[in-house]
Amino acid sequence: MSTERSAAAPLVEVRDLVVEYRTRGLHGGRPVRAVAGVTLEIAAGEVYALVGESGSGKTTLARTLLRLVDVTSGDLAFDGREITRISGEELRRLRRRMQVVYQDPAGSLDPRMAVSELVAEPLRTHERLRGPALRSRVLELLTDVGLAQQHLSRRPHELSGGQAQRVAIARALALRPELVVLDEPTSALDVSVQAQILNLLADLRSAHGLTYLLISHDLGVVRHLADRVGVMYLGRLVEESPAEPLFADPGHPYTEALLRSAIGDAGDGGDDRAATPIGDIPSPLDPPSGCRFHPRCWLREQLEHPAVCASDEPNLVPIDRGDARRAACHFADQLHPSSESRRAS
Ligand SMILES: Nc1ncnc2c1ncn2[C@@H]1O[C@H](COP(=O)(O)OP(=O)(O)OP(=O)(O)O)[C@@H](O)[C@H]1O
Ligand code: SF4
Ligand SMILES: [Mg+2]
Repeated sequence: MSTERSAAAPLVEVRDLVVEYRTRGLHGGRPVRAVAGVTLEIAAGEVYALVGESGSGKTTLARTLLRLVDVTSGDLAFDGREITRISGEELRRLRRRMQVVYQDPAGSLDPRMAVSELVAEPLRTHERLRGPALRSRVLELLTDVGLAQQHLSRRPHELSGGQAQRVAIARALALRPELVVLDEPTSALDVSVQAQILNLLADLRSAHGLTYLLISHDLGVVRHLADRVGVMYLGRLVEESPAEPLFADPGHPYTEALLRSAIGDAGDGGDDRAATPIGDIPSPLDPPSGCRFHPRCWLREQLEHPAVCASDEPNLVPIDRGDARRAACHFADQLHPSSESRRAS
């Protein structure tokens, strides 16, 4: 991975990333491999969405990129510079350029602080703003997220869920980051408020030239915001595609199952934990041999259980569905062109 800035470098580069959690006493001390070799790039200004069932490693990947979780192996780069092993002042400078908005706005805001203090805090700490300059920047940020002067004195418990998420977004934008990780940004909100927050996120992206890494189990949210989508399964990226073609014509049996909702997309929002006709996601402690999806794969069943599915792990390779589409399936070509009729059946 390059260490020098190049004009063509993507904003984010993830190479062969492996992340293991070692929890002493649990699982006989065996590591949980939450991210099992992921390579992806995110261009500046792009909205890249990660989707996949609960436990597939989406949050771990994002938190590792933010350098909040240790890399087990592989490389990360941001804006053309290696960030896997940086520390100290260099890491502090990087953290200002990457921010995160979590699912639960109330839980991510200190309940004792008023909105004015919550939004001022990062500006005071990192930009040493004081007095009128600080007040005017706080007001500017509040206006940006659709709040007004009257909200300044409120504490988190005096805000609606949507208002609290707006404050969390204002805090995330305070230091003018380039990348914002949105981890289930609307799943804790009322349905009526979700669209407003999505529209706000879309507007802020255009106004500030932001890059988003969006994590959501709600495919409607992904469709609304994403330019490209990475589909994760048990720590691996199994499909990557521009958003529209992926929704119109999935390139991996798992993606197709997600879209059909044959698999309950049981993210940590938890509302739509549908029963899964083809079984639960296996434990990352003991991932299946070969293709990790093989015990649940409907396409493999139709192909009468080809042995290669259980013996050889497929690589994420270009598929014959137009530009920039990749899938990790030995039989991706068998999905096309009959997938529409298969979904209809
Ligand atoms: N701090 C931790 N310690 C040990 N194991 C963890 C930890 N965080 C996550 N895991 C495990 O790592 C795997 C991936 O979890 P992760 O939270 O990254 O998935 P996710 O795709 O974000 O899921 P969700 O949709 O539920 O948020 C899971 O098996 C999870 O149990
Ligand atoms: S490699 Fe085999 S088991 Fe895996 S997704 Fe493709 S058809 Fe299904
Ligand atoms: Mg998560």
